[in-house]
Amino acid sequence: MRTQVAIIGAGPAGLLLGALLHKAGIDNVIIERQSSAHVSSRIRAGILEQGTVDMLVGVGAGQRLLAEGTPHRSIELVFKNQRHAIDVHGLTGGKVVTAYGQTEVTHDLMAARQAAGLATVYEASGVSIHDFDSPQPSVRYVQHGQIRQLTCDFIAGCDGFHGVCRSSVPKAAATEFERVYPFGWLGVLADVPPVSPHAIVYGNHERGFSLCSMRSLARSRYYVQCPIEDKVAQWSDQAFWDELRRRLDPELADRIVTGPSIEKSIAPLRSFVTEPMRFGRLFLAGDAAHIVPPTGAKGLNLAASDVKYLSAALIEFYLDKSSAGIDGYSQRALRRVWKAERFAWSLTTLMHRFPGSGGFDQKIQEAELDYVVSSRAASTALAENYVGLPL
Ligand code: APR
Ligand code: PHB
Repeated sequence: MRTQVAIIGAGPAGLLLGALLHKAGIDNVIIERQSSAHVSSRIRAGILEQGTVDMLVGVGAGQRLLAEGTPHRSIELVFKNQRHAIDVHGLTGGKVVTAYGQTEVTHDLMAARQAAGLATVYEASGVSIHDFDSPQPSVRYVQHGQIRQLTCDFIAGCDGFHGVCRSSVPKAAATEFERVYPFGWLGVLADVPPVSPHAIVYGNHERGFSLCSMRSLARSRYYVQCPIEDKVAQWSDQAFWDELRRRLDPELADRIVTGPSIEKSIAPLRSFVTEPMRFGRLFLAGDAAHIVPPTGAKGLNLAASDVKYLSAALIEFYLDKSSAGIDGYSQRALRRVWKAERFAWSLTTLMHRFPGSGGFDQKIQEAELDYVVSSRAASTALAENYVGLPL
């Protein structure tokens, strides 16, 4: 089999890249390790920047998002038992973020891809990539017990943090930057109305961080900071709701509607970037190249901006016969990646309790929270990063 661009991974990065390339008439095949049912059922974050919404609409996968997504004009910070609204909309000249689960984004992109009749190989095992330092790279994998080969012009590594693409790059060719945080997020998804359909609520409390978010008017997503060693089985639904309530102001705590969890999981928090994001004819995009801690929900949005730059570069290569775009891809993408890394790190640092941190760190955190909610300049800086820096 032959294609122009072989895309490894059918997460949001791979699916959106495939859609953007197809729209420009560039042939692509997606090779995915998991089954389509597995891919479309993963629960992740769900806050979309306007640029991400525009891209999904632009590739024809935005119908349900426009009908069912919930625009948020503000966020709230809770600390010292008090709520403070940040008027994101007012501070950014009218921008909003949209609550719409990544699960739904994936579902819509998969449906659009299927409707367009584009090739996606699910349940491909033993995927390996070859000769990306030559003009004719290839991908090998096993499907239904048969070894298959896909030759191509380019490989897009959209295979997430644990994928095969980044690990196929010679160690000496890349530099990795990493920070691992000493706690996790225990997340619960429940079919209950959100505590606030108008805002996403971030809580800083002596017992740890909490977050109230939503998927729809009937489905909510909540998180509490927990020790990274904790196991999901230790946390009954009741224990989760009790802990969440303790970390919010009394009025909000009273308003929370609880119910049985339909998903419960613990996620580690990590900041990670690999540089560069291009190695010959291999490009990395999304979680394959970088991870942000979930505070601020930048992961999916960064995957979207990467593939926007990458698709533009490949379109320039095929349509204008120019390599300038692919030569500049890594630098262009990394500029935006590092700013989102900075924001996710700073919001994580601002909102969490760090084990072992002392009185000085605590006082600095309190001063910064006070500054963010009382200075227009500081809340504007938060707001403009929250809605997403320009693409
Ligand atoms: N071969 C083929 N596919 C693979 C391989 C492999 N060796 N390894 C991983 N994959 C697939 C995974 O099964 C997954 O479907 O690559 C896909 C990567 O998808 P994501 O992990 O969702 O990464 P990405 O598309 O970059 O999306 C970034 O998703 O992980 C969240 O928080 C992250 O919101 C962010 C967004
Ligand atoms: C989510 O809805 O899962 C979510 C929302 C906001 C965040 C992170 C996650 O900052």
